[in-house]
Amino acid sequence: MKRRDFLKRAIKVFFSILAVSILSVLAYIYPSNIKKRKLHYMYLMDEDDLPRKGVRKIEFEYKLEDRTITNRVFVVAGNDVLTAFSPVCTHLGCLVNWDNNKKEFLCPCHGGKYNMNGEVIAGPPPKPLTRLPLEIKDGKVYVGIKI
Ligand code: FES
Repeated sequence: MKRRDFLKRAIKVFFSILAVSILSVLAYIYPSNIKKRKLHYMYLMDEDDLPRKGVRKIEFEYKLEDRTITNRVFVVAGNDVLTAFSPVCTHLGCLVNWDNNKKEFLCPCHGGKYNMNGEVIAGPPPKPLTRLPLEIKDGKVYVGIKI
């Protein structure tokens, strides 16, 4: 094999490996199943049962393939504004709880704390709790989650 042919092959092999490496990294960063997740509205409660003021944890179930999934959200009512928060801590994904005495969401894993608006007030969480869309239709309340 001539030196020139060897160099051509070596360059082709190098760029092939580089392309596969880049695609692997992209597939890791942007997994296809996350892209395919769509927003679905799940029934939470009747509108009459909404909290007038304060925070209420609401659990709901839905079917995913053959499994029944139990999920929860926090519905926060205050000053004519209704907000739903995901219970998933934005640090490493533990589930937060609402402490009604302290009026804070507390994460049991690393001491993360959020106020009633979902804003971080202490600990390592890098961003606020995720707000979830709420929809009220025909007297029924639905929350939007991606599944
Ligand atoms: S997972 Fe919540 S503070 Fe770390």
